[in-house]
Amino acid sequence: MDEKTEEKDVIILAIESSCDETAAAVVRNGREVLSNVIYSQIDLHTLYGGVVPEIASRKHIEKINQVIEQALKEAAVTLDDLTAIGVTYGPGLVGALLVGVSEAKAISYAKHLPLVGVHHIEGHISANYIENQDLEPPFLCLVVSGGHTHLVRVLDYGKYEILGMTRDDAAGEAFDKVARAIGLGYPGGPKIEKAAHEGDPDAIAFPRARISDNPYDFSFSGVKSAVLNYINGCRMKGEEIVPVDIAASFQKAVVDVLVSHTMHAAEVFSIDKLAIAGGVASNGALRDAMRQVCEKRHIRFYHPSPILCTDNAAMIGAAAYYEYMSGTRSGLDLNAIPYLKLGER
Ligand code: KG4
Ligand code: ZN
Repeated sequence: MDEKTEEKDVIILAIESSCDETAAAVVRNGREVLSNVIYSQIDLHTLYGGVVPEIASRKHIEKINQVIEQALKEAAVTLDDLTAIGVTYGPGLVGALLVGVSEAKAISYAKHLPLVGVHHIEGHISANYIENQDLEPPFLCLVVSGGHTHLVRVLDYGKYEILGMTRDDAAGEAFDKVARAIGLGYPGGPKIEKAAHEGDPDAIAFPRARISDNPYDFSFSGVKSAVLNYINGCRMKGEEIVPVDIAASFQKAVVDVLVSHTMHAAEVFSIDKLAIAGGVASNGALRDAMRQVCEKRHIRFYHPSPILCTDNAAMIGAAAYYEYMSGTRSGLDLNAIPYLKLGER
């Protein structure tokens, strides 16, 4: 451990295994990432067109010790230097979550270290703290990933008010399904973004869904079905299908909805700071659109680097730090909770 580390430093080993990334990180005082190791299983799941839960769990078991050892090594710390262990305990795939949770409990028990269970979405939100040292609550955060689409008011560290969420598919899930339909494969987000660069975003008018009883809720199954219907229609009429135009038009439809819902909330709640998080937050079109509207409205705009947008353990370490500082401790009875709600323990 280097000399800079003082007694009062809080050094957290964080573990993330909720989906198809086996990840471990060492984070100092919540915002300084000493290491961030991610073993991505994407290549394995690509063969099946999406994440296969059983395969994910088995791969996590195979990789987790290796990933933790590497994270400690890169951070130049040992288990004896740690203050606490942070781990994602939900939401996610139960078998995948259990691998991380069991590992974290074993280390906590063996080394007498406090254990802090972290909500995966709280992790995504907290990814913003790492590279934006000035960012502090309150702020508004749009969390857009493969499993979640949440518009959240971050009232304080660990205190959240969910304004809206998706009623059906998550934004990333829609990207993945549309990518499959136009033959781009898994994971769809980055592939749609790349294809969209070559296409015309105004070529096809896909629908922008509004939910009448909650202006902050989202629905993406309609735009996904519209893409599938459009493709079927072209096939039946013998018309040419231009995948890059579909990608660009679909991406624009999703970005429009994400931006308009978020800006509506920003106006109603007089927001002056907006952050985005989750895998879809690495999308260039979404970032550009958000940046532009934020500039116009004098809202400060924050987003993590792409590597901190998709699943990683550094974000879990950041979230675990603030939970740890506010006194949150999990017992050795901590369990994986696949449908854990944000703000619940
Ligand atoms: O946050 P994440 O790694 O996992 C979940 O917690 O779900 O997000 C993965 C999702 C996938 O659906 C992927 O297609 C999407 O994020 N994604 C993107 C981009 N990169 C990843 N979506 C749009 N544009 C991207 N560049
Ligand atoms: Zn995630």
